Formats: sequence, structure tokens, C-alpha cells
Amino acid sequence: MIHKYDLVIVGAGLAGLRAAVETSKYSDVAVISKLFPTRSHSGAAQGGIAAALGNEESDKIEWHIFDTVKGSDYLGDQNAIEMMINEAPEVIYELEHMGVPFSRTKEGRIAQRKFGGHTKEVIGEDGKITRKPVLRACYSADRTGHVILHTLYEQCVKQNVRFFSEYFTLSLILQDDICRGIVAFNLLDGEIHIFHSKAVMFGTGGYGRAYKITSNAYANSGDGVAIAYRAGIPLEDMEFVQFHPTGLYPLGILVTEGARGEGGYLKNKDGERFMKNYAPTVMELAPRDMVTRSIQTEINEGRGIDGKDYVNLDLTHLGAAKLKERLPEITGFAKTYAGIDPVTQPIPILPTAHYSMGGIPTDVYGNVCKDEKGNLVKGFYAAGECACISVHGANRLGTNSLLDAVVHGRRTGKALVKYLKETDFMPLPDDTGKNDKAYFQKMYKETGTENADSIRIILKSEMTKKCGVFRNETDLKEILEIVHQLRERFKNVNLSGKGKVFNTELMEIIELGNLLEFSEVIILGALARTECRGAHWRIDHPKRDDENWLKHTFAFKTDKGTELKYRPVIITNYQPQERKY
Ligand code: FUM
Repeated sequence: MIHKYDLVIVGAGLAGLRAAVETSKYSDVAVISKLFPTRSHSGAAQGGIAAALGNEESDKIEWHIFDTVKGSDYLGDQNAIEMMINEAPEVIYELEHMGVPFSRTKEGRIAQRKFGGHTKEVIGEDGKITRKPVLRACYSADRTGHVILHTLYEQCVKQNVRFFSEYFTLSLILQDDICRGIVAFNLLDGEIHIFHSKAVMFGTGGYGRAYKITSNAYANSGDGVAIAYRAGIPLEDMEFVQFHPTGLYPLGILVTEGARGEGGYLKNKDGERFMKNYAPTVMELAPRDMVTRSIQTEINEGRGIDGKDYVNLDLTHLGAAKLKERLPEITGFAKTYAGIDPVTQPIPILPTAHYSMGGIPTDVYGNVCKDEKGNLVKGFYAAGECACISVHGANRLGTNSLLDAVVHGRRTGKALVKYLKETDFMPLPDDTGKNDKAYFQKMYKETGTENADSIRIILKSEMTKKCGVFRNETDLKEILEIVHQLRERFKNVNLSGKGKVFNTELMEIIELGNLLEFSEVIILGALARTECRGAHWRIDHPKRDDENWLKHTFAFKTDKGTELKYRPVIITNYQPQERKY
């Protein structure tokens, strides 16, 4: 079946829905999602969305910009960071006016809490400037992503956005560097559908499911990233995978950084607040990469609780009333999944794969770049976690992800309104959908010898062990070889259930193909980058190396394998400095 819409948006998280709100005032917009929209992973974001509103204490846009640049370990492009942070207050007020139920101060203003790496300047009596944590994250208890997602969905419904829920996108229709739509299959009946459009926007989310311990939903298999890569688009900075410090032990479910923002302590087996040894000025509110490495070091050096792979997040001193008001979700998660009550017991936590700094390269208007020189693909846009603009560089600050998704969803939406007005539909190539149909036929006809689950289990556990918080050349070479072997095995993977209706086994096989595709790119980028920067920590190259590595990785799929190229970081006002907290 062929559908025709001015714009097709793939992904119904914050970026996709914010762009849909912007564009659907003027155009026919279809949103394709493999989930029901309000199940998108943006809804799992807990602690807040950053903006220097200064509602609870004085704050400045410049401080937020500086924190983001420093947090990125100077790999973020400073022009893009400045644009995002400057727009932050406006997008928050827009969300408020759409109906997002933010928590409130006593005076009725949007409430704000502290988060790692977000600071204000304080001038001491001696005239010396120091930086202290600042109340900057606008929040709605600990379900901020959830309430924004629901509000944007309501706005989309009001504006007659057409949703194709539980449609799984397979490929981009791209010819002569002009995007003309996508091919998807309907999970309900297994039929392949072609969506012909003037433009396509991806807001397909991140790729944390390549790891065993992750805060990511099952859906976060990096499909958009893999589809773009297969279509000839490079991937940028894929080696930068963020590990959130506090995943609930042992699964890795997110326990918001807002818990530390509200005053929670991290303690090792001796009951010591060990962050004093790693980031003495900001303690538990250091940026994520640092807190994660500190926790992992405590665990690796035998100071985990009872010799196990976790430390404690202690909230018991905050009191029942505060936990009920500010952190009800994680209180519930701890009870349900760990059987402990945070009012009286510490929460067992460990680092968990959380966020993808890398992705599909775009300019600041969401246009996808086809190379490291900034040349563009016409009619193809991306925003949110699947995109790399790059506003997070080597390490994202907590609460800057919801901001990124909303700011760039909106800005991409505005760019699309202009593009759609000036552009006509381009014809579909004759062979549209041919490869996807052939793949489906093969899977339904043939009996493979390999089991997808066993390939997936090996991939995820080996990625966690060998391409995780700490990396080195030997491990990276080993995991590269493992991924090559798994990719060979995957060619012979078996679809055991041949039914057409809700064939989630087929969907999971396609997702596994995507995981294998981009995991190799993560590893190759990590192997090449012989330095420590942000979330990429090479213990065999223990220093940041600005002379050789102040640059973005671009990975291209070629007939001979993956080719890496680079482009310099854009620096405006902040020269790289040693990063201390
Ligand atoms: O910790 C959190 O609430 C996560 C927020 C984020 O990743 O920005």
C-alpha cells in the first residue's frame, strides 16, 4: 500500500511530536512509530528539563552555556550549544502554556532542582570565583518526560496529526541525495507499506539496547541510526555512549539524578561518601561521566556493598514527605523491582547505559549532513537523541536531553514548514520497497540455523564488558572480532514463527540487525580515539589529547567496511581547559 503525506516523522518521542506540533498547522503530517506514541522512551525521563529561568535562585544563560561546553569535555560545538541554551526559557514557557503540569514553587513559579554539572558562579570573600550547584532543572516530580510527552501528544491529536502506531520503519527512500519517503511494515498484519512524502524527519531515539545493563526501553535499538547508515549517511561520534551513574541494581532501570539533586548521598561498603575523593567541590553533583567512573572504580576496587557490583544511593535522611512529593516514581520502582523502601533503606545502584551522544549528523536546523564537510541530504531531517548536532559532545549533562529534543524538534519543525512550502513531491524510484520485500520473503521461506536470542545475549554482555565505562585496546579488538563473528552468524538467523500477525520475533530480528550494524561503528570509533574525553575513557591512553582529538568522528559505510573521517570542533568563546569540579 502507498500513502502520501507532505511530511513523514518517524518516532513519537519529544523531538518527533514537537516537530509534528509545529508542522501540522500547515501540512499533512504522518507520525510513524513502532510503539503507541505515549509509550515512547522520552516518557521515561525523570528528573527535569534544563533552563536558566532563575525561579529559585539567580541563574544566567551564560552559566548554562559554559556548564554545557565544559560538561561536553569541550567536544560540543559551541555555536549549537549557544543556540540551544538561548532558546531554553522560551521553549519551557511554551510547554507550560500547552499545559505541561510542572511542579511549582510556593509563589507558583515553575520549580527547579539541582542536577550534575549545572553550576552558578559564587564570589568568595577573597574575591575568588568558585562554582556551586544551581537550581536549574524544571521538573514535574520525577516524571518530567512523561508529562511533556503526554501534553505534546494531546496537541498533536488536536491538530489532526495522523498516527501510524506499531508500524516499524525498515528503510529510507533516497535517490540522488533527495529523500522521498520511507518503507515500513505494519506489525498488526505484517504488510509492507510505502510512505511517499516531500520530507522525512527521524526522531527515533538512542541506541542503549546494545548494552546488557541499560536504562533504555526495549524499543531503543537505534533503528533510525542504522537505517540512515545503511542508506549511505555517515554516523557522528558514535563512540560516546553515556553511562548514567545510578541504575537500579541489577537491571539498570533509571534512578533519577534528581535524587542526588534533592540531596541524596552515594556511599560505598564502608558508608563513606566517596565522591569527596573524586569531585570535592560538587560531590554527588559532578557530571555523569565523572560520577559513573567514580562508582565503577569503587566497585572495581572492592568497595561495592558486600563485595557485589553496586554501591548505595542513600535517601533515608530526606524523609518520607519529600520522597513522596518529589520522587514518587523512583520510590515505587525501588519497592517493585528491588523490594526496598527508600524511606528507610538505601537504594542499590550501578552505572547503566543511558544515552547516545552520537548519531545522525545534522546542522542546527535538523538538516542531515551527508559528509563531514556539512553538505546536506535534501528533505531528510533528524532531531533528538538519534541526531548529533553536536550539543552534548563527549558527555551530556542531565536534563539537557529533554531540552535538546524540544528545542531541536521545534527548530526542525520550523525549518520543515519552509521546506515543505517550497518543495514538490519527487517521484518514487521504480524499485521502492524491493529489498525490504525480498528480505521478508527470505525470512518467511527459509529456515536458518542461528538463534537470534543467543546472538543478542552475547552482543549485549560483551559490549558491556569490553566497550563500557572503561575501555582499552585489547578489549576493543576482542569485541570487534566478536561482533564480526556475530554478524556472520546473523546472516543465517532463523525466524521460527512464520505468522504474519504481530510477529514480534521478526521485529526483534530486524532490531538485532540494527544493533549489530551500529555496535561495530561504536567500537571502531572507540578503538581509533586514543584519548580520554567525557564518556569515552581509554585506560591505556589516560589523558585528553586536544592536539590530536579535538574533532568529531564521522563513520561511513563503504564496500570495504567502515571508513572514519573527522571534522574540527566549532569553538566560539570557550577555549578547552582542564576539566575539574
Ligand atoms: O536522571 C535523570 O532523571 C535523567 C535525566 C536525563 O537523562 O536527562
